[in-house]
Amino acid sequence: MNFDRKVETYEKYAVVQKELASWTAEWLPKYTLNSNAIELGAGTGIFTDYLRHVHPELKVTDISNEMVKYGKAKYPTLEWKVMDGWSPICSNVDHIYSSCLLQWADDPICVLKNWYECLSANGNLLTVFFIDGTLDLLKSIGADISAIKYYDENEWLIMFRQAGFKVIRHKVKQVQTNYHSILDLFRSLHGMGAVKKNTINPVRLRQIIKNYESVSIDQNATSLNWIGLKVECCKK
Ligand SMILES: C[S@@+](CC[C@H](N)C(=O)[O-])C[C@H]1O[C@@H](n2cnc3c(N)ncnc32)[C@H](O)[C@@H]1O
Repeated sequence: MNFDRKVETYEKYAVVQKELASWTAEWLPKYTLNSNAIELGAGTGIFTDYLRHVHPELKVTDISNEMVKYGKAKYPTLEWKVMDGWSPICSNVDHIYSSCLLQWADDPICVLKNWYECLSANGNLLTVFFIDGTLDLLKSIGADISAIKYYDENEWLIMFRQAGFKVIRHKVKQVQTNYHSILDLFRSLHGMGAVKKNTINPVRLRQIIKNYESVSIDQNATSLNWIGLKVECCKK
């Protein structure tokens, strides 16, 4: 994706990510001492802002150099590191966190197994991510710009269990974002880096707008649905 090049604009457009981070933070433990924690795919630190109050020794990671640089400048007392969240290099971790990351995994079971291996015996994972129903409008007008396979709630729960986890609790939330026009919508997705590289050229964009005009009732207003699933789980 384009996150590496969207560090400066990401937070301006990441309205849904902010809402999901605050919603997921409702399930954070109280201030913890003597336990270690890691955040994967932290981006600019939207969820980190909640985690840092609970885990003053939090280790914060992202695959993007630029995101890590930005985050380090924002929260310099935390330890920031470039790390691939699909196979994190860590062991005996008490808490793993990730927000709006897991939907990007090509092989979710493999990633979840890796996370399971990183946890200590009493370790716990809290994660939130997008599921089926997210950005449906784009699919219907042939503009599947992120090219993600969105799994539904049940498919995800099965994958968590297949990876070895015991699901403690889980909850779904729908968020709607509104735009003045289809172009405004694309500007926003582009600004947050959620567009796969080289997926939209001017010819394709014109076709997408045409498709949109043929299905839309009001071309001066449009909205997108995002469905988040938060899951808390532990080792069996
Ligand atoms: C949608 S942003 C979410 C950022 C942040 N957690 C939030 O909620 O705002 C996704 C982040 O995941 C990072 N990312 C993508 N693939 C990754 C991977 N394999 N390992 C670690 N981070 C990854 C991107 O660099 C980006 O910062």
